[in-house]
Amino acid sequence: MTMTADRTPAGTAAPAEDEVYEPVHDSSWALAPEGTDQRVIDWVEKMAHLTTPDTVVWCDGSRREQDELLRLLVSHGTLTRLNAEHRPYSFLARSHPDDVARVEARTFICSEKEEDAGPSNNWHDPADMRETLTPLFDGCMRGRTMYVVPFSMGPLGSPLARLGVQITDSPYVVVSMGIMTRMGSAALRLIGPDTEWVPAMHSVGAPLEPGQEDVPWPCNDTKYITHFPETREIWSYGSAYGGNAILAKKAFALRIASVIARDEGWLAEHMLLLKVTNPRGRVFHVAAAFPSACGKTNFAMLKPTIPGWKVETIGDDIAWLAPGADGKLRAINPEAGIFGVAPGTGPGTNATALESLWGNTIFTNVALRDDGDIWWEGLTDKAPDHLIDWTGKHWTPDSGRPAAHPNSRFTVAASQIPSISDDWEDPRGVVIDAIIFGGRRATNVPLVAEARDWEHGVFVGATVSSERTAAAEGTVGELRRDPFAMLPFCGYNMADYWQHWLDVGAGLRATGGLPRVFQVNWFRKGEDGRYLWPGFGDNGRVLAWILDRVEGKAAAVESPVGWLPAPGAIDLDGADVSDADWQELFRIDPEAHLAEADDAEAFFSGFGDKVPAELRSQLDELRTRMRAAQS
Ligand code: GTP
Ligand code: SPV
Ligand code: MN
Repeated sequence: MTMTADRTPAGTAAPAEDEVYEPVHDSSWALAPEGTDQRVIDWVEKMAHLTTPDTVVWCDGSRREQDELLRLLVSHGTLTRLNAEHRPYSFLARSHPDDVARVEARTFICSEKEEDAGPSNNWHDPADMRETLTPLFDGCMRGRTMYVVPFSMGPLGSPLARLGVQITDSPYVVVSMGIMTRMGSAALRLIGPDTEWVPAMHSVGAPLEPGQEDVPWPCNDTKYITHFPETREIWSYGSAYGGNAILAKKAFALRIASVIARDEGWLAEHMLLLKVTNPRGRVFHVAAAFPSACGKTNFAMLKPTIPGWKVETIGDDIAWLAPGADGKLRAINPEAGIFGVAPGTGPGTNATALESLWGNTIFTNVALRDDGDIWWEGLTDKAPDHLIDWTGKHWTPDSGRPAAHPNSRFTVAASQIPSISDDWEDPRGVVIDAIIFGGRRATNVPLVAEARDWEHGVFVGATVSSERTAAAEGTVGELRRDPFAMLPFCGYNMADYWQHWLDVGAGLRATGGLPRVFQVNWFRKGEDGRYLWPGFGDNGRVLAWILDRVEGKAAAVESPVGWLPAPGAIDLDGADVSDADWQELFRIDPEAHLAEADDAEAFFSGFGDKVPAELRSQLDELRTRMRAAQS
């Protein structure tokens, strides 16, 4: 960590404490590490003059720096150190009760033209937004330290990797970025005079007056998560939580990266990545898009209940996919850590995630046990008799409220996942054999179906709808369209994005690298409201059918929604599924599907004539097949 105070020329005494905290308004305060690109230095100085922090710190990403920041966070009361006997080097953060998830209503795409953001994004005129943001950022770091956080998304130096620099006044965000990205000096050194890098400006929006005492989780009621796709910048104000503040993640790796990907012919997606080895030893790679809190982390760490199949993890949330020189679709996980949903993570649902959390983990908004360890709903069958809940209050099993926030999370290095694959950092990326779309659907969508072809697959992705979860603000359970699980994350017009998917597919078809496309739904319910499918490890049965299809070895029957497993093609030996439930998991109600087709048409019409003609004809064909099924 390079601090202003450390910059005293050799031989002179270090300045006294009060001198260090005296704001210095000349350019010497932002002395950068040797060799730093001048554009980065100029930007940092400009941001420092705007926000007037007391100190500027260039982060090097070292273990020592992380340790100093964690100690600082404990002394500020932001973090509580957990009992090292149970959870070595691990910490609990309790956020402000109003700063607990992404705020989609406060997330903006500020493209020059409104139609380039499209109807599914909140658009704002960029010049106008700058006028709004400038007074908010003016002096917003008063009394605080400004951290400069260089990072690489993707393995350092990989042709598929991209660089960014985040500025933040939240040390909690710095330690999170240290886990979630390849952060520090090595990333900064990769930024040369011709390197593209994304500036990501972040403040919690809580300046301190002299003598004013800080709070454990500073933030502001006013929140702006803004993206400028043309200039490829991010400005975020008022929140310290997750995707609002860890700007490398959704803001950069999805919203800005999707724009870069469109311009350069690749894909930035809300997808997990898997390596799968079948009983015959053949290796496959799979990418799967499920909306937030719909099972990506779980599927990424799947422990199949059927014998002979091995599943390894490459990524759990974001994938960058690009046609390679070999004509195949290649993918990397741009992240270096996981920011996973805690509730529902238990020994029977995701044992691998639990094993990853043995230590070196930051937990946010989970409950604290009396023995200094953590707890959340689903971690054990029986809740402890007493806990401190995520708001810091006493809790007992009859408190009548959850002990952990439904969007509470753990932050841990990907290298700690026991199932991490040996090729997860392959700089060339892995070859993708199958793409899966999923969602949380109580009705209609079958357990699994294979798309008829790439174009049908794009239609399936474009019409995904899913019940809302606690991962964002809004009414939990409400059904909404979430195309490609990218509704909150596509940095440009979603209809142009669909066309881009069609174009990338056409290119891959020409080079023989087209992956097969599937749809899954682990969440279909019976009339009694019970999940029909046991899920979790049993999802491996579905994955096995998918990859047997890719290999040309699994039987399927045609249906109006695509290819379904032929009777007996999915191994159900030992699975707790009745014949009646199995039938219900694949039942197609043409009336209900025709009603959904009307809804899809209404959804498409919001995008006007930008909707690719291909998708409109896919919708017509679906209706034709459903009408035929009616009679
Ligand atoms: P984000 O990090 O928000 O993008 O979420 P995610 O897609 O990684 O979701 P995650 O795997 O953390 O799962 C969210 C919730 O879904 C957890 O409570 C899981 O227990 C639950 N879940 C995951 N897989 C299944 C499944 O197969 N069946 C059922 N019923 N629930 C599941
Ligand atoms: C999601 O909401 O999809 C997440 C959590 O993965 S966050 O990083 O906060 O966006
Ligand atoms: Mn996510």
